[in-house]
Amino acid sequence: MKRVKLWDKEFEISLSNADIQLAIKQMANEMKSDLEGKETLFICILNGAFMFAAELMKELELTDAEISFLKLASYSGINSTGEVKELIGLNEVIAGRTVVILEDIVDSGHTVQNVIKQLIGKGAKEVKIAALLFKPDALQVDIKLDYTGISIPNDFIVGFGLDYDRRGRNLKDIYTLIKE
Ligand code: IMP
Ligand code: MG
Repeated sequence: MKRVKLWDKEFEISLSNADIQLAIKQMANEMKSDLEGKETLFICILNGAFMFAAELMKELELTDAEISFLKLASYSGINSTGEVKELIGLNEVIAGRTVVILEDIVDSGHTVQNVIKQLIGKGAKEVKIAALLFKPDALQVDIKLDYTGISIPNDFIVGFGLDYDRRGRNLKDIYTLIKE
């Protein structure tokens, strides 16, 4: 599909599934050598990061890793509200651990910053961020990403986990909003 319509808006393809899979393989190669032997706890930020986390974890093939899930929400329609709501929290012991946050996209950076603070507050030894996508022009906070898949322009996108009002998460490619 070159174009999709979700609710009232049209989107056109901007990253194919092959582009995405290649970026994930490259991230996994880099991460594997850093994380081997560290008994890493991966934290997938739901809902958006579910597809990325599944693909990355399969590529990583770490035998001492664990994965858990944190459900947050900050977007309403096509805009960030700036306020990060926690819908499902973490039960794992964080103290003394190497933790890697798995995010679909870092936009303003508020979500990731919020999670980093929470993890440091719980005594994590080391907190790293792995984001499939990054909008450098939208960043509003002082954070550095440890692993980035693809940097993209500051446009609204859907697919591969990312939604527009709950639709589009299931699409295997990534689509950009066509501006009227
Ligand atoms: P941030 O807190 O502004 O960095 O935004 C993070 C969250 O907003 C991401 O985890 C996404 O779930 C969502 N988000 C950011 N940009 C987009 C987009 O272009 N399309 C869909 N969701 C987005
Ligand atoms: Mg997200």
